[in-house]
Amino acid sequence: MKLITNAPRGTSDILPSETYKWQYVEKLLRKISTNFNFKEIRFPTFEHSELFNRAVGDETDVVQKEMYTFFDKGDRSISLRPEGTASSMRSILQNGLYGNALPIKVYYLINCFRYEKPQAGRFREFHQFGIEVYGTEKITADVEIISFAQSIFDTIGLEGITLEINSIGCKECRADYHKALKIYFEKYSDKLCNTCLDRLVKNPMRILDCKCPTCKEIAISAPKITDYLCENCNADFEKAKEYLKTLNIKFTVNPSIVRGLDYYNGLVFEFISSDIGAQGTVAGGGRYNGLSKELSDIEISGLGFAMGLERLILLMEKQNKFTTPDKSPTIFIASLNDKYLEYALLLTSKLRKCNISAECDINDRTLKAQMKYANKIGAEYVVVIGDNEVESGIADIKNMNTGEVKKFKLENLEVFLSNTTLKI
Ligand code: HAM
Repeated sequence: MKLITNAPRGTSDILPSETYKWQYVEKLLRKISTNFNFKEIRFPTFEHSELFNRAVGDETDVVQKEMYTFFDKGDRSISLRPEGTASSMRSILQNGLYGNALPIKVYYLINCFRYEKPQAGRFREFHQFGIEVYGTEKITADVEIISFAQSIFDTIGLEGITLEINSIGCKECRADYHKALKIYFEKYSDKLCNTCLDRLVKNPMRILDCKCPTCKEIAISAPKITDYLCENCNADFEKAKEYLKTLNIKFTVNPSIVRGLDYYNGLVFEFISSDIGAQGTVAGGGRYNGLSKELSDIEISGLGFAMGLERLILLMEKQNKFTTPDKSPTIFIASLNDKYLEYALLLTSKLRKCNISAECDINDRTLKAQMKYANKIGAEYVVVIGDNEVESGIADIKNMNTGEVKKFKLENLEVFLSNTTLKI
């Protein structure tokens, strides 16, 4: 086959035979969100670039190397969203929702774009389920969002996912930590990559998640933020650990988790699976109390997490968490020849109005070919419309699974189909 072009690298088609998995996951995530009393928020696929530059951070890999940024016809710098937190916060601020009862709890199901090197579990267009909570500074909220993520894995019954937590402190503890990092990394200034040399001046913490092998190696022995936490941050971190134990959520403390986005402070966490290769982080998030002030003159605290749906689905496939897809359509109305097509069309339309999945021939096929097609698409029942059926109003309805044939009044067909136990 000749095709003028394939889909761009790092994007994928989700084919009709696979969409049931996505629908299942999305339905489940919406249900869990409702159980936790989160409401859906939707925001644009693209924003003014300055939103991400400011929120995600000029020094991050996401902004520096991975963002799809272009000038629109009005000469404005626009970027496709690399994540949802910045847009969600922008929307809460722009629409004045911070004046509502607090906390505000929202969730989103979105596609995101990052120009990364594609590999298993890493794409240039990918999908996230995310939640954000606004207007609470209490550590119980941090624990609540972790327990939300945990409940997703528990509901699905996924195994082998570990939770790693860290605290990256507040502005105060971070000032001392930055100084310590600067002193440490300056010793390696002849070995760091050019981007990290720049980060050394502007934001040394970003060196900790550089993907260059040499920088990664150097970062291993860098000072740890947990040694620089102020009293409050330390107390919050300890409380979070206690609450997690109370909720029976297992975790390990990983002082090297700094997250790849600039807005975080306080508790951060990642859920990691060893089952899906190098890109094992299924979900990640944390607190970002300073973000609203970066974007506006309003101060409202925030926290949340996002989960990569491709990674979640990959994991579910590996652990056989999908049941077989629904079969459809329920019934195929075949016509003996094109004389009966109109009758078949009418009957099909009537059944559909009764909420029954029905199909008839729209390809001008012979009866034999129609039967073959009905079989291929997995129709559960087939009815053939000919002279006798039109005249008597009675037809044989064939169960395609058992081969059983029953006579039925065509005007009662929908009653039979809605009562049948075989119905999907
Ligand atoms: P993030 O860690 O950049 O955080 O992304 C969250 C999740 O999205 C990752 O754990 C991963 O599962 C998935 N993901 C990221 N990049 C890719 C990719 N290139 N291909 C496939 N999956 C990917 C955020 O985006 C934050 N906004 C999360 C957050 C919400 N923090 C607070 N609220």
